[in-house]
Amino acid sequence: MLSPNIYVRQRGRLTHSQARALDHYAAEYLLDPGDQKIDLSKTFGNDVPPVLEIGFGSGQALLEMASKNPERNYLGIEVYLPGIGGLLHCCHEQGIHNVRVIRGDAGYVMENNCVEESISQINIFFPDPWPKRKHHKRRLVQNPVIELIRERLVPGGKVCLATDWKEYAQWMLKLFSETPGLTNLSLNGTYTQRLESRPMTRFEARGIRLGHEVWDLCFQK
Ligand SMILES: C[S@@+](CC[C@H](N)C(=O)[O-])C[C@H]1O[C@@H](n2cnc3c(N)ncnc32)[C@H](O)[C@@H]1O
Repeated sequence: MLSPNIYVRQRGRLTHSQARALDHYAAEYLLDPGDQKIDLSKTFGNDVPPVLEIGFGSGQALLEMASKNPERNYLGIEVYLPGIGGLLHCCHEQGIHNVRVIRGDAGYVMENNCVEESISQINIFFPDPWPKRKHHKRRLVQNPVIELIRERLVPGGKVCLATDWKEYAQWMLKLFSETPGLTNLSLNGTYTQRLESRPMTRFEARGIRLGHEVWDLCFQK
């Protein structure tokens, strides 16, 4: 059993619209499966395996992908309540119905709530880099999480990652490359081109403003 990442900020001041969205739209968008497995076909009303975004922040990328691809299903896992409230608000405002959210630690949720081979793609964009060596153990991308990602992906499913922190990019490249059953889709065995469908988020824009490079990775099961 994975222990939850207790270092991530979970609460923050909610704006009026975030609080209102959590009150009014949770019934449509927020899942509360406890420790039970979720039946994704029942949840989305069809058999299309969803795209999962882990740590969606304010939900910009998830929202844009879901609105551009109404025939696909999108599941988000996030711990930060204002981000969830913001996403619910935007989903309602834009009339988006192919998004569902679980609030919780991604490792816990994947392990307890997601069925094996049920997810078509897993996106992790700009995970917290925890740059100090003594904090590396707090990073989201660790072997037990990678193993869960591999198990939860359908055969042929992909995991796509992006970061503006070079040393974290190298860390992710090493750990994913060493995982049996996952193939790097980069032509030279390192980083890929920017994923065409990956929208620019606030975190990426900030990184670019600071002069950071961005590294994309994509592995296939
Ligand atoms: C740096 S932000 C990036 C947000 C977003 N992906 C973007 O590109 O704008 C990282 C996000 O991951 C979330 N997060 C970190 N660890 C997590 C975990 N174990 N489970 C779920 N969410 C997590 C944080 O709450 C935060 O919102």
